[in-house]
Amino acid sequence: MNVYDSARMADVLAPLGYASADSAEDADMVILNTCHIREKAAEKVFSELGRLKKLQAAKALAGGRMILAVAGCVAQAEGEEILRRAPFVDIVLGPQTYHRLPEMVAQAARAGGAVLDTEFPAEPKFDFLPEARAEGSSAFLSVQEGCDKFCTFCVVPYTRGAEYSRPAAAILAEARALAGQGVREVTLLGQNVNGWHGEEGWGLGRLIRTLADLGGIERIRYTTSHPRDLDDDLIAAHADIPQLMPFLHLPVQSGSDRILSAMNRGHDRADYLRLVERLKRAQPDLALSSDFITGFPGETDADFADTMALVREVGFVQTYSFKYSPRPGTPAALMPNQVPETVKEERLAQVQALLLDQTTAFNRSCVGREMRVLLDRPGRHPGQLVGRSPYMQPVHVKAADHLLGTVVSLRITAVHPNSLAAVPA
Ligand code: 5AD
Ligand code: SF4
Repeated sequence: MNVYDSARMADVLAPLGYASADSAEDADMVILNTCHIREKAAEKVFSELGRLKKLQAAKALAGGRMILAVAGCVAQAEGEEILRRAPFVDIVLGPQTYHRLPEMVAQAARAGGAVLDTEFPAEPKFDFLPEARAEGSSAFLSVQEGCDKFCTFCVVPYTRGAEYSRPAAAILAEARALAGQGVREVTLLGQNVNGWHGEEGWGLGRLIRTLADLGGIERIRYTTSHPRDLDDDLIAAHADIPQLMPFLHLPVQSGSDRILSAMNRGHDRADYLRLVERLKRAQPDLALSSDFITGFPGETDADFADTMALVREVGFVQTYSFKYSPRPGTPAALMPNQVPETVKEERLAQVQALLLDQTTAFNRSCVGREMRVLLDRPGRHPGQLVGRSPYMQPVHVKAADHLLGTVVSLRITAVHPNSLAAVPA
């Protein structure tokens, strides 16, 4: 989502004459787009600001000016605090106000004193953004934002605000524009992407069907989903729509019913397994990935064993797993039975080792298979292209340059540590 937002910020600033620079050095403006989801990400902001302060001073010494902006969820959560700790910052803006960047930049350029805009404005920013510019053959498309789920560990409902669905017509117009610029794969984005709903009672399944019928878009993905919002029509879409990739990120966070309940996830282990079974019935080639949190308050060895068992049972092929990080203002941060760091780390290492085994086994099982691959970048060697399989594995193949940006059928011949090798099928 932050990658998408950063690209849109660049689009908003382009009419003012700003273009992306390769490095922060000597730039006229630096926008730090930030994440507040875990403490580590949030703390990085301040160390990064320390580095940028030096570049800003060097620019001033040379008679220039570097406008420094902090955007995103850290800005939303810690607005005033940022200005207090880093008074050299010119602009602080939340994730819902970046359509107002031109005014903020004008104000910062004019005045002394910082500009702070962390409102949740009534007008959705999407109504004010210029047409998205594609880079390459795969693009993100934000369809939904915000979250009303209030998992007890998570800051997102506070930083991104309430669930909001973009109107279908705006999404379809953006998809058409992207396809016209050579985009062949679209990843629909939302904090609760499958909570998306259109004005006419459409759900995400219907939106995906419509996108598939537009022509031009050959592959569709969506992320991140919540198990509670995966309705029948979306599951059916996995059976009926060839453009919908058979790879689903469906975070479960924990395999223990006790912990799922303390997390306020709104589903238990059995609900999740039932969903997986229905999805696999709809699309037998489906592979799943998930997020896990280790060391949530009160997590015992037995709870963690339930998580490991669930990882095996579902056969996840990919994971993003994290140590529990207490976040200010969230209920879990105040729970009494916090787990020691060493235990969190040990459990994280275990779940990641298991997942690495499962990822490797899955990659090996791909050898000999024919796969459709979107060739989306040149390889390191001349005459080589790199693409993505339906399961997001990087695939290397010898292929002519004119195939860049197209979907081709390849046969997988070998597995390397972080990629697959292939020949034309
Ligand atoms: N600590 C650790 N991980 C977290 N996530 C969200 N909040 C926290 C937290 N406080 C993880 C969840 C979520 C992913 C985006 O980040 O696993 O799915
Ligand atoms: Fe955070 Fe996702 Fe839970 Fe929403 S559903 S509170 S974004 S983890």
